[in-house]
Amino acid sequence: MSIKNKFGFSTRAIHAGNAADPSTGAVAPPIFATSTYAQEELGKTKGYDYSRAGNPTRTRLEENLAALEGGVAARVFGSGMAAVGAICHLMKAGDHIVASNNLYGGVPRLFNQIMTNLGLEFTYVDSADTRNVERAIRKSTRYVYIETPTNPLMGLTNIEAVSNIAHQHGCEVVVDNTFMSPYFQQPIKFGADIVMHSTTKFLNGHSDGLGGVLVCTTKDQAEKLLFVQKAAGAILSPFECWLVLRGTKTLAVRMKQHDENGRVVADYLSGHRKVKSVAYPGLKSHPQYELACRQMTGFGSMITFETGSLANAKRVLKRVRVCTMGESLGGVETLISHPASMTHAAIGEKGRKAIGLTDGMVRISVGIEDVEDIIADLEQALAGI
Ligand SMILES: Cc1ncc(COP(=O)(O)O)c(C=O)c1O
Repeated sequence: MSIKNKFGFSTRAIHAGNAADPSTGAVAPPIFATSTYAQEELGKTKGYDYSRAGNPTRTRLEENLAALEGGVAARVFGSGMAAVGAICHLMKAGDHIVASNNLYGGVPRLFNQIMTNLGLEFTYVDSADTRNVERAIRKSTRYVYIETPTNPLMGLTNIEAVSNIAHQHGCEVVVDNTFMSPYFQQPIKFGADIVMHSTTKFLNGHSDGLGGVLVCTTKDQAEKLLFVQKAAGAILSPFECWLVLRGTKTLAVRMKQHDENGRVVADYLSGHRKVKSVAYPGLKSHPQYELACRQMTGFGSMITFETGSLANAKRVLKRVRVCTMGESLGGVETLISHPASMTHAAIGEKGRKAIGLTDGMVRISVGIEDVEDIIADLEQALAGI
């Protein structure tokens, strides 16, 4: 069955890239654990010659993710960071990126500590005000790189407005859509040129594998990124491709439950007398609530709240029992973390201060457990401060 965009989201999630195996009829896609492929004669292959360049399980996942984001093709990499690195591999010394000043901390670490050494240039702006993006664009700007909502401050960027500005200046827009997943936000509909995900998070959804993807809107991007996969080699293994393929089949049901639980937990936290503030785009108090309603079809389950001090944050994190304290997000289990010392340690104290990321902030990725159990756990943890 050819899966075109006329099918609904879950139909695409379950069927795109998932046709029964032609040789056996197996309904679940085979994991092609092979490095190489027998060739019938010199130059005559069945479409695959070496697994760095291509693997049938990877092809299936790439078809699946392209169908979910509404792109023409997708390219998967060994982690979200490898996918960001692949964007940089499309550039040359002297090229420039305008990036949001609040991104997952590993992204500015890659940009500032590796890519600047190779001659790439970066300017960071508060992209919530799109005029800042326009001011920062230079003749050498190739990409505008945004994350919306941002990790961990939950700030939004207007994808359509940024895309219009970038296109007027001949640059492309890359959107990290990890927090929303294509179920709640499809940046290509608003003009984005490339959609990035850490598939480690909601797309896989079970905290059991790393991965990254770039969904392309043109054949040219797809060809160049295929070349990057082959030439630079940071590809996703067949087993992890299979895990993500399996994960996306339940993406819609998981995201609905994440969203339902996320709203309940955000409401609970915002009514708690010991919580100073809550950042969640689904709260009417969020400064960009209107934009969230226009650009997203749900609010997801990422919430950051202010406990008031490092000591308070530490106490909450030590006391949780149902929530797991650890890095990462987007799994079926609730994960709770301390951005200042974990995901955003790499940007340094100065960098955190500049964007308003405090030591008292705690980030929670609300899972799909029974929400009463999550609330009860937070209640007893917050009682400690
Ligand atoms: C929003 C976002 N983008 C990218 C990444 C990097 O992905 P990975 O850990 O798969 O390399 C992360 C990781 O936490 C993230 O939260």
